[in-house]
Amino acid sequence: MFYHEKTAFPEDFLWGASTSAYQVEGAAAEDGKGLSVQDLHHPAETSDFSVASDHYHRFLEDVALMKEMGLKAYRFSFSWSRIFPEGKGKINQEGLNFYHKLVDALCAAGIRPIATLYHFDLPLALDENGGWSNRETIDAFEAYAALLFQEFQNQIKDWLTINEQNVMILHPSAMNPRGVPSQKELYQQNHHMFLASARAIQRLRTIDPEAHIGAAPNIIAVYPKTCAPEDSIAADNWETLRNWLYIDMYAHGRYNSLAWEYLKDHGWQPEIQEGDMELLREARPDFMGVNYYATATVSAPKNDGHDRQPRNGDQQVMVGEEGVYRAEENECLPSTEFGWKIDPVGLRTTLRRLYAHAHMPLLITENGMGARDLLEDDGHVHDSYRIDYYAKHLKQAALAIQDGVELMGYCPWSFMDLVSTHQGYQKRYGFVYINRDEKDLKDMKRIPKDSFYWYRDVIQTNGESLIQSK
Ligand code: BG6
Repeated sequence: MFYHEKTAFPEDFLWGASTSAYQVEGAAAEDGKGLSVQDLHHPAETSDFSVASDHYHRFLEDVALMKEMGLKAYRFSFSWSRIFPEGKGKINQEGLNFYHKLVDALCAAGIRPIATLYHFDLPLALDENGGWSNRETIDAFEAYAALLFQEFQNQIKDWLTINEQNVMILHPSAMNPRGVPSQKELYQQNHHMFLASARAIQRLRTIDPEAHIGAAPNIIAVYPKTCAPEDSIAADNWETLRNWLYIDMYAHGRYNSLAWEYLKDHGWQPEIQEGDMELLREARPDFMGVNYYATATVSAPKNDGHDRQPRNGDQQVMVGEEGVYRAEENECLPSTEFGWKIDPVGLRTTLRRLYAHAHMPLLITENGMGARDLLEDDGHVHDSYRIDYYAKHLKQAALAIQDGVELMGYCPWSFMDLVSTHQGYQKRYGFVYINRDEKDLKDMKRIPKDSFYWYRDVIQTNGESLIQSK
């Protein structure tokens, strides 16, 4: 679609940035925090999560930088096991205090907190008791969510239930070091996470009816490799199993029909108890978060035993599946040095398709470029590649708005460098450089990168500088 006039970002557009608790906080066993499944990661080559970016001790300095940058919103996550060390039962007041101090500082700085309840870090105690396979985890999540809604009802008005539920189901080994359940069990866990999210939504409605809540799945457009109709069906297959299975449930409270037939055919359909579907239908979110990094390209499966190819476990690397799709290379797109495709137009396509499915306002909760940033001799990080990445993605986001998508804001990944899920500090995402290596903690100095100042200007002009530039 070509438009004769350029549109502006809405006046109340939420210019934000994101992080998650276990990837920035550190203090993994401090002040009464219980362990989460992420604390079991002790990779030989890369950093673990014990210190991370030491945000737990330096959050005031970090919030001051957010203010200097002009952020309107900050998306962060609560660490469930910092609040409930056993996942349920006894509350850890010191953990709550930390988040009170953080949220107070954000509010004092005029930054709107957008809080994720659960970002990959299930309390270990719950995991040892069956994790998401056990329906008791749904009760624990509801109690945890209700506590936070009550505690922060005067300050937090935007909530996200679960980060990337679809990635946790599709790439379980990457997200939980305690082993990979069977597909049948995974789809049961998926059903339980849907219920947990729905229960949290219901609780928020009674505790703070003015607040808004959504989920944050990882959604991508899938391209057919060629114009062969079979490739198109394969793209539709994969888009449905990766995206719409989740969106149709969150937004409309129903299992997507194609996804359900697939589950049935494999014998993987979850056990649904009385009242489950009613709850899922009733508890609708107010908006949908979307984590977008790259599109995928696929062709028809050959069903020759090679549709599924061994690749590393990155959440953006498609592996293929017999009878569903074969993963293909997209030669039209460049890649980051970590092999993730760079596809700004794909963001526009993804937003259009997602909006058509969800029919509710969207919030970009993650988008960003992982790179081996270098602290130069002049004491700066010149990340022009990241500026280029963001400029191109934001222009496409503006076009999506012009296409009619209700886009509430943009919270790129990430505000500061953090422990990447696979490559530690080798792969950096932040606007702010953290002066540490994988194992050498150095001085942890916070150093704004060139992209920090560039984004500050974008925010100051409400995106106008960007839209008018070529
Ligand atoms: C998303 C996650 O999948 O991608 C983040 O929500 C993650 O937690 C981000 O850090 C980037 O992925 P990675 O593997 O490069 O850290």
